[in-house]
Amino acid sequence: MTGMTLPGWVYQDEEFFALEKEAIFLRTWQLVGHISEVENPGDFLRFDLLGESALVVRDPRGRLQAYYNVCRHRGSRLVDRSAGHCAGLIHCPYHGFSYDLDGQLVAVEGVEDFDGLNKRELGLIPVELDVYLGFIFVRFLSDDGPSVAEQLAPFDDILQRYLPVEMSPLTPVTSSTVPANWKVAVENSLEAYHVSTAHPGLKRLYAGTYTFDVQPLGVSRGGGTIDAHDSSVWSERLYHRLLPDAPHLPLDRKRAWHYYGLFPNLTLALYPDQIAFHQILPLGSEVCLKRTGAYALADNRPEMRAARYLNARINRRVAEEDRLLIESVQAGVRSRGYLPGPLSRREARVHQFQSLIRERLPVATCPELPKTGQVGVRNRELGGRAPARAKAFARV
Ligand code: FES
Ligand SMILES: [Fe+2]
Repeated sequence: MTGMTLPGWVYQDEEFFALEKEAIFLRTWQLVGHISEVENPGDFLRFDLLGESALVVRDPRGRLQAYYNVCRHRGSRLVDRSAGHCAGLIHCPYHGFSYDLDGQLVAVEGVEDFDGLNKRELGLIPVELDVYLGFIFVRFLSDDGPSVAEQLAPFDDILQRYLPVEMSPLTPVTSSTVPANWKVAVENSLEAYHVSTAHPGLKRLYAGTYTFDVQPLGVSRGGGTIDAHDSSVWSERLYHRLLPDAPHLPLDRKRAWHYYGLFPNLTLALYPDQIAFHQILPLGSEVCLKRTGAYALADNRPEMRAARYLNARINRRVAEEDRLLIESVQAGVRSRGYLPGPLSRREARVHQFQSLIRERLPVATCPELPKTGQVGVRNRELGGRAPARAKAFARV
């Protein structure tokens, strides 16, 4: 089944974008970081998405906890940094309410001036948390959907072989804005059909070995064996020559680059020398943020250090090539001249992604933009779920 691409209006309409926030982004697992970034009690990571903000903190018993980054007094953000350490207590910077790392309100400045304040009722609001292979995920709205492990189960055996739990950050997490709808950026990451035309370097590297695999529950894989012994690009030749053995990996992964996709917006790039993540976070209907981090096993071999440097260099170039493609597609899909086009079998992962968009938001099957204010109405008429009105969680 190949199918046709989505209509152009879903890549630019504000009402559709608002539906995506609730039907897709708040209800799916979002990668925050890696356990090595919150090793000690009090270490925290902050993760922001479409106006929501989560705080993941390691408690004194060594467990990870996730809360909305919102004070129970008058709503101030509790932490403003993306990562850090708080010694035992989370202090609100506004009026000084203090919470322990279990989220309980433990101290209130001038408590005698509140009538009937019950600290037990004013704990931080939890956010759903999941940890899979060392990677930390949050989900802002409970979906009763599968865990990350259940989603990635078809790939679990091979993912384990990379020893991700034992890894630590190779480079700090970086973010860059991309002037395109988030779906254009994700779709670009899901297929290698464009590689032979648009990435001459990658084409040489894979030398026709690229395969892909689409599994249920929104997960997929693409990748191939790398061979650049005669590449004209020095960084590729050198990477091929220097990449040392990864004794923990099976033979067919010792010299292979594979990309695992988790709906809606995450790619885990598994290299013999490191694991990188690429996460596309929507900022607006026509702008998104690409967030990237890389993790690796401790390995001081000079060849491994060189291979890691070269990997980053090769992929920087690929990312620059992709950025231009993404901007070009965004310009195209917002034109009157765009109509849904045919998908190749080589774009099966894009087909899976777009099918999941239509499933979660059936209004995406409409070829034309519904009348102003009617996108949500039409979506419900077509079987889409009504937006949640209640608070995400009530703490008990
Ligand atoms: S808003 Fe946090 S203490 Fe007032
Ligand atoms: Fe690409």
